[in-house]
Parts: sequence; structure tokens; C-alpha cells
Amino acid sequence: MKPIQAGLLGLGTVGGGVFDVLRRNQDEISRRAGRGIQITMVAARDVARAQSLVGPDVQVLGDASAIIANPDIAIVIELIGGCGIAKTLVLEAIAAGKHVVTANKALLAVHGSEIFAAASARGVMVAFEAAVAGGIPIIKALREGLTANRIQWLAGIINGTTNFILSEMRSQGRDFDVVLEEAQRLGYAEADPGFDIQGVDAAHKLTLMSAIAFGIPVQFDKAHVEGITALATADIRYAEQLGYRIKLLGITKRVDKGVELRVHPCLVPAKRLIANVEGAMNAVVVQGDAVGTTLYYGKGAGAEPTASAVIADLVDIARLHTADPEHRVPHLAFQPHTLADAMD
Ligand code: HSE
Repeated sequence: MKPIQAGLLGLGTVGGGVFDVLRRNQDEISRRAGRGIQITMVAARDVARAQSLVGPDVQVLGDASAIIANPDIAIVIELIGGCGIAKTLVLEAIAAGKHVVTANKALLAVHGSEIFAAASARGVMVAFEAAVAGGIPIIKALREGLTANRIQWLAGIINGTTNFILSEMRSQGRDFDVVLEEAQRLGYAEADPGFDIQGVDAAHKLTLMSAIAFGIPVQFDKAHVEGITALATADIRYAEQLGYRIKLLGITKRVDKGVELRVHPCLVPAKRLIANVEGAMNAVVVQGDAVGTTLYYGKGAGAEPTASAVIADLVDIARLHTADPEHRVPHLAFQPHTLADAMD
């Protein structure tokens, strides 16, 4: 069977990781996908730089629309980020009948309803494992592994940058600003790190997990969002003296009126597993009625962990692309749900 061809929009940290992992593990990946997966086209702002990174076999263009319009491209990988041009291109790709793989949590948390509706109408998939918790396969866990469960709540550390900052402030007594700069250098932080430290990035991810866990539409505007900017080293020290660690948690649960969504710093008893998740690691705890409590832990940010999630989605699509279209399962099917009305 011919390899499935993908076009990559945006060659930053994660895009580079996708190329590296795809090349390194191509035999295993092709075997698992049932066919080869090739990124044959890339759109990048700096065409010369991108061309030197990906080599001569990949066509690099400055114009993303030309990639979307190419009939040989079956999957568009959007790694531009943000809600501007990325939104236009994702909708353009869907309209052109391409499947989309994206790591763009902001886009889906804010405009997910429109994007998923467009994808569903066009019969294509929008896959976004990489948008939540980096390399941890939490979307697949919620959608597939836990699908028999009525989920009661889920909570976790879902922003690597802030967890790295809090860990370094506590264990090394380092300054907030210095650690934030390091998180940016290491490729953990968002292009605008305000999204990390103000809790917005965590709320985007929580919104997506909540939508899947509870079958509700994505409603970022209903989330309570508080970051770590008001925390001082003294707060972290006092918490420690009292036997706690401060963690920025995202929590979503069923409550009497509906579903609650909140992100804020929490005091976690130091003995708890979640208190010991340090650095840029992420952890998510999910409580289901049948399975009980489950815990997912791993690298929540960085090039290769996020690439791992992007490629998992590519493999999923490559498998489904070969299936009878009549029997394709939509990647994300939200049901209208009355719980959503009470999310405030
Ligand atoms: N800025 C994000 C984080 C990147 O720090 O977790 C991964 O989504």
C-alpha cells in the first residue's frame, strides 16, 4: 500500500521532534500503521532554515494553503499554535477534506465546537492527543480505555512550565523569573508564557479533557482560571513547613448543578503522589465508577514527548483511512448535554 502523505504547518520545536521520531522509528511506526507515513510538505516562515532542517526530500513552502490544496496530502498537521492563522488553516484543511492533527489546545478549547462540527460535517477527523499533557496518552485513555466508565472527576498537573517553576522555587530557592526563562529556553513554555503562568494553558487542556470525560461541548469561557503569578517563595516555604506542596492543579468534576472546571494553585499534602510530580512532568488522576482511580504520568512538554503524541494520531488516522468509510468512527463525538448549561 502507498504511504499516506502528510503536510506539516509550522516547523518549531515540536515539528522538529516529529521529523526526528518519524525517521528514527519509521519501521515500527509503519508496521503499526499498516502503511508508511510520510511528511512530504512543510510550510514554514523561514523556508531556507526549514529546508536545511528537513532535507531535500521534503518540499518546503512559505504558503500553507498550497499544501492544503495538494490532492496527495491526506493529513494536515497544524503546529503553528494560537487562534489566528491556525484557525483559518485548520478550517481550510477540513473544507478540503483533509484529516487534521493538531497540538493546538488554545484553538480547540476556544473554537472547538465550530471546528469539530465542520470536521463532522465533512467526514474528517481532528485528532489532538498532543494538545493535552504532552506525551501522556490521556485523550486516548479517556476516549478509549475508560470509555465504559461514568467519569466522576479528573484532576492533575497539566502545565509543565508552572510545575517546573514551582519545583525549582521550592527545591532550589530559585527566583520565579529566572526559572521561567529557563523553561522558555528548554522549549516548555508557550510562545506567550503568560498563558502558562496565568493558568490559561492548563485551563485550555482541562476544557478539552472535561469535554471528553463528560460528553459536553468545549466551553473554555466557563472555567475558573487562576495562575501562579501571585505566589512568592515565602508561600512555598510556609506550605512546606506545614507538610504541603503548592501545585497548580486543573480540576473538573460533576457537581449538583452540572460540571465544574477550575485551575488554581492548591495545597497538596506532601505525601501524596501528585505532590511529588516535579519539574516539567505532568500527572492526571481520573476517577471512573467502574475502574476506580487511575493515574497517568509523564513528560508534559518538550519536542519528542509531544511528537510522540502527534505521531500516535497520525498512526490512528493512517489505520482509519484504510477502513471502509461507512465504518469509520468519528474521532471525537460530543453529545449535546444538559450538564454544559450549568458550568458556571
Ligand atoms: N507550555 C506547555 C506546558 C507546553 O508548559 O505544559 C505543553 O503543552
